[in-house]
Formats: sequence, C-alpha cells, structure tokens
Amino acid sequence: MAVLQFAVMISINPSNIYPFLSCELIEQQQVRVGAADNVLRNGSGPGNDFIGWLNPSEVAPTALIDEIVKSANRLRSLADKLVVVGIGGSYLGTRAVVDALAANPDVIEYAGQNVSANYHQRLLKRLDNEDYVVNVVSKSGTTTEPAVAFRVVLNHLNAKYGNSVSERVVATTDKHRGALRQLAIQNGYQTFPIEDAIGGRYSVLSPVGLLPIAFAGVDVHSLVKGAADMYALCQSTTISNNPALWYVAVRNLLMQKGINIEVLASFEPRLHYLLEWWKQLFGESEGKNGIGLFPASVEYTTDLHSMGQYMQDGRRIVMETFIRVEGGEPDVLVPDGNPIDELGYVVGRGLTDVNEAAWKATATAHADGGVPNLTLNIPKLDAYHLGGLIYFFERACGISGYLMGVNPFDQPGVEDYKRGMFSLLGKPGAAASDGNQPEAQHIQFG
Ligand code: PA5
Repeated sequence: MAVLQFAVMISINPSNIYPFLSCELIEQQQVRVGAADNVLRNGSGPGNDFIGWLNPSEVAPTALIDEIVKSANRLRSLADKLVVVGIGGSYLGTRAVVDALAANPDVIEYAGQNVSANYHQRLLKRLDNEDYVVNVVSKSGTTTEPAVAFRVVLNHLNAKYGNSVSERVVATTDKHRGALRQLAIQNGYQTFPIEDAIGGRYSVLSPVGLLPIAFAGVDVHSLVKGAADMYALCQSTTISNNPALWYVAVRNLLMQKGINIEVLASFEPRLHYLLEWWKQLFGESEGKNGIGLFPASVEYTTDLHSMGQYMQDGRRIVMETFIRVEGGEPDVLVPDGNPIDELGYVVGRGLTDVNEAAWKATATAHADGGVPNLTLNIPKLDAYHLGGLIYFFERACGISGYLMGVNPFDQPGVEDYKRGMFSLLGKPGAAASDGNQPEAQHIQFG
C-alpha cells in the first residue's frame, strides 16, 4: 500500500480512503481546512483562551520537566505505588501513556475516576498492604468524583502514616484558585500548576500527566520532544505536508457524505487507554450543537470476534482509523508442534507477523464492505512517537472543531448532569429541583 510519509514521525495509508474520496477532492479542502487551522493558530476562534497547549515546549520547558522528574524521584524514594486521583482530562491521558509505555503500569493506582463503592473498597484493601504516595489532580479542585475519592484516600493515608502525610501528597491544580489549591497550602503539599489556558483533555503533556508518567519510569523528556517535533511538522500549512490537516480534511468530507461514527482501532492491547483518551478528546471537543462524529473504539483482533460483524456489514455510517505500530517489539515465535492443528504455515513466524496480516486483511475487508478507512503508522511504540501521536490528535481535534463550526475547548454539556447530581445530593447553593421534573420511572419486571 502506498503511504503518505510525514517526516520520520508518522505515515498514513490512504488507499482505503481513495475509493470513497478522491485524492483531488481531499486536496481541494486546502482552503477550508487551512482557514480552520489559521483560526486555531491565530487564536481568533471561540475558546481562544484555552489554546495554551498549542506549543508543547512552552507548556513543558526543560526546567519544568526537570522539576517534575525530581518530584517523581522523591515520591519513588518514599513508596513503590502512586495513587493518582482524578477524572476525565485529569486521568485518561496519564493512564493512556502509563499503560502504553511503563515497564510496570501497576505502579500506578487510580482513584476518583468513578464513584463506585466496590471499586474504592477494593483499592483501599490493596493499599492496606502497600507503601504509597498520592497525586491528586483537579484543575477546578471541585469535581465531585476526585474530591470525594481524595477524602477517602486521605483518610486511609492519615490512618497509615499519621503526621508524615503531607510529604506523601502532591496536588496538581489551578495556579491560584480552587479548593484543592487552598487545601494544598493549608497542609503543605507540594504542588504543580495547571495553566488557565489548558483544558483537561489537552493537558496530558503538562504537569497533569507528566508527574505520574515520570513516576511510572517513562522518559517524559522524550514524550515532550516527540510532541514538539510533531508541532513543528504541523506548522506546515499544506494538506500534503501536514498529517493533521490531511486527517481533518478526510474525516470532515466523510461526515459530509453521511458518516456519523469514527471508530479508532488498534491491534495493540497496551493502547486501550489511548483509545479512551482519544474518545474524550474528540467527543467533548466536537460533540455539541447537534454536530460531531461519534468517537468509538475497537481493539483487534479481540473485537474482530465481536464487533467485526457490524464493522463489515452493519449500517454504513462508520469510518475507521487504525493505529499501527510498525515495529520495535520483541517477538514471540509460533513453535513447531502437533500437525493436527494445521498451523504448519505459521511455524517459526512471529506473532507480530500474524498481527500484521490481521491488520492488512481487516483494512481491506472493511473497505470492500463499505467502510472508508485510513491507517496511522508510527515506527515504534516509545515515548517519542507516542508524544508525537498525542499532539497529532490534539492538533487535529482543535482544527476539526473549528472546521465543524463549534468551540472545541468547552464542554457545556458536561455541566448538565452535575447540576442534577448536586441538587439530588443537596449541595448548598445548587439549584433546587424545579418541581416539574417527574421522578425517574422504573418498570418492574417480576
Ligand atoms: O476535559 C475536561 O475539561 C474535563 O474532562 C475535566 O478534565 C474533568 O471534568 C476533570 O476536571 P478537573 O480537573 O477540574 O477535576
């Protein structure tokens, strides 16, 4: 398959797009997509006070990364486990990178990404037998789930470590405001700032993600360098030289042709949380005013045996984007064995080879079945290339939102459930129920 190569960082296989969109049609989007890109670069669009993430080297200059690594080393000298308390943009990016790259992702535990009693009870039970430290991450400092979970974890921490607790907690929060900032000052926690101009889902390459990622032993200097190099690549203003512009043009054209869903697919289980992070990024950025591609994900080859049927043959409202890691992994060879299983044709070949065949066959079959698809190739799954991929998606998402005519940096819809929840829980000052809301109805069976 012919590929579009963008420096050494990323390449795109477009051949399963061309039956649906011609190369000329994609290039004709230059003016529209270029204009949306300009709005982002110039900061002239809605939400322009939230584009502080645009230049990764400004978000995380070397001195700040050094300070973060120093803090991570200090925490590691105290404990083998770090509990990260956070939700949404204060959680998913960290987990995406840690799960993809850490030699042992289990050095991080997560709290406050849900309010399940069972989840937190199990967590506390594990922590009974662990030496641990805590990084509480919340820009606002008031999000219910992490605020509640922080209390629960802090209670456990106090019972376990008594008056040496403050050295075991680092708070990542707003520079000046918020309940968490106040708590940190009061209790003497080390803090890292979240800049006003960086929203949660664009914050993984700031202290939000970098501290826990460094604790997990990932090279955060390389992660940011990869993002900075992708930023440089995305400074090109032409579709054929800028992978973000090409991706935005293609998914926008497909949306105009009636595609409603973009499925991000990977053949690498370590990328599970990268897919989750991507869904938040695009879902919260584009999904407003009745607009936006619905972001979904599948993990192959596992999901070829569940979602594969729909992808091949269901409603034709789906496009698919594959993430493919080209190499760099130690392989597992298929051993010789009993010929009854008829696997002679793969004996001595690596699982990587089998996985590669699965990708090629799936991409071709789905295109034949009417699913336009493209593949984003990264040469290696390491900090540098993952940093580049993360920035690629963030950049594309910002441009795409402007192209669709929405503000890609707000999330007004997220507030609606919060209001209802505060009101139900009786939070002081929360708007009381207007009395017109009917009680939720249950249909009881049996
Ligand atoms: O993208 C976003 O802004 C949200 O997902 C937030 O990150 C999430 O709601 C958590 O907010 P906070 O960091 O203020 O606790």
